[in-house]
Amino acid sequence: MEEIVKKAKKKNAIENQMLVIFGSNGDLAKRKLLPAIFQLYLDDLLPENFILIGAGSQEKDEQTNRKEVHESIVQFAKTGTTTEPEKLESFLERLYYKKVNNQNEGDFCELKNYIDNLSATLNIQKNIIFYFSIPPFLYEVVAAHLVTCGLNTEQDGWKRIIVEKPFGYSYDTAIDLDKKLRAGFNEDQIYRIDHYLGKETVQNIMVTRFSNGFFEPIWNRKYIDRVEITAAEKIGVGSRGGYYDTSGAMRDMIQNHLMQVLAVIAMEPPSIFDSESIRNETVKVLQSLRPIKPTEISNYVVRGQYIATEVDSELQTGYRQEKNVSPNSKTETFVAMKVFIDNWRWGEVPFYIRTGKQLPERVTEVIIHLKPAPHQLFKQRCVSQSTNMIILRIHPDAGVAVDFGMKIPGAGYKVQNVNMAFHYSDLAESKISEAYERLLLDCMIGDSTLYARADAVKASWKFVDPILQAWKNNPDIPLYFYECNTWGPNESNALFGDKQLKWRVPFKKFKTD
Ligand code: BG6
Repeated sequence: MEEIVKKAKKKNAIENQMLVIFGSNGDLAKRKLLPAIFQLYLDDLLPENFILIGAGSQEKDEQTNRKEVHESIVQFAKTGTTTEPEKLESFLERLYYKKVNNQNEGDFCELKNYIDNLSATLNIQKNIIFYFSIPPFLYEVVAAHLVTCGLNTEQDGWKRIIVEKPFGYSYDTAIDLDKKLRAGFNEDQIYRIDHYLGKETVQNIMVTRFSNGFFEPIWNRKYIDRVEITAAEKIGVGSRGGYYDTSGAMRDMIQNHLMQVLAVIAMEPPSIFDSESIRNETVKVLQSLRPIKPTEISNYVVRGQYIATEVDSELQTGYRQEKNVSPNSKTETFVAMKVFIDNWRWGEVPFYIRTGKQLPERVTEVIIHLKPAPHQLFKQRCVSQSTNMIILRIHPDAGVAVDFGMKIPGAGYKVQNVNMAFHYSDLAESKISEAYERLLLDCMIGDSTLYARADAVKASWKFVDPILQAWKNNPDIPLYFYECNTWGPNESNALFGDKQLKWRVPFKKFKTD
């Protein structure tokens, strides 16, 4: 972030611009986008001439909109609302609102007039970001309306669209959506946001790997035995049942976030550190994923669904009882899978990926398990398993740790595993920005490095789609039920194919106490 902040602070680095948010009254806008933009404003990173136009289905005047945005910023912003009230007031002055029914083409032409007027009266060039914070089925509709009303043309300023995931529902629909977006926008105008890529700690994986001489030489099949990627959540689907029941963990987390994390872990070093070179390398990883045959799905993928469970004397709702979820739903709320990357660096190294809701804690981490030393001299004297691990903790308590065997002081040679951990919070002078702050700022500058490129989205769908198809078409593939506050179905351990191995319970020692 520091680099980009410097870049942004350089005079004129960010051109004057407008940000139009479709779905500005929705949850994502209130919880994430508006607080992120406010934070950029507090940090002095927005251009001098900047306005934000909310485009939502509700009829309301500018003052009511400002009042509502004020309330949601007070509720969701991390800082500044009490300490810098005058900044909050001047931020609110940059807000505008236009009622837009996304299905109605005429509303977009009115939006264009509204933008033209603001541009003339406020003297802001028509550099515009359109943020699609709307249900995915509306992406192509809104994109088409923008085109019809001439809001994609760049003679009077650049135009960019930010599209939220899911980018399609399957391989075919993803291709189709891409075609429709590309009918009016070039690839360099389309920013597919994956907030995992905006996480400081995911970017740090690249720095850990490529700026340290001692990690890179061992980062391959010769020294790495296996890799585990876990993204666990403590919460259930809550109020998002309607969306989630059509999505499931595979589409919601794996096809996008975890495939991107996998790509960053496994990519080759780019020759130069720019957007295209980095994305050229990450896409190669996704294109090298070994396809899983429909007949072998059960050997490589385990799906689960949480059931009603009493946790600490409180009944946690089962998935099928959640609001807007079908009572017979077969949607997976947990997925564990074993995947292989068929290339020279990774040949035959298994990558284990799992994600789930209603698990015991919220944690995302990557564990690189190194192969044991060639000859286990101290095998009989180990207190715990003496293999080495590199742990990349994405959240919470972000950091990096290495785990290795040490002699317990005293007579004899008893060996115990210990670790050295670096906590991101120790870099006290630099705050860790929220993913949305970083990504919005990148788009404002025109840097798409941390946005998903069309070919990566396509490659990821190509890999997961046959699994989703097999689940849909073959009712014999089991859906395992698991209790809330557990690490998912026990069957997920069978993926290791070795009774000695199981999923690692996330690394507790990261805590500083
Ligand atoms: C979202 C998913 O993209 O990511 C949610 O739709 C999930 O279901 C969330 O909860 C997880 O993000 P994070 O940053 O909390 O790991």
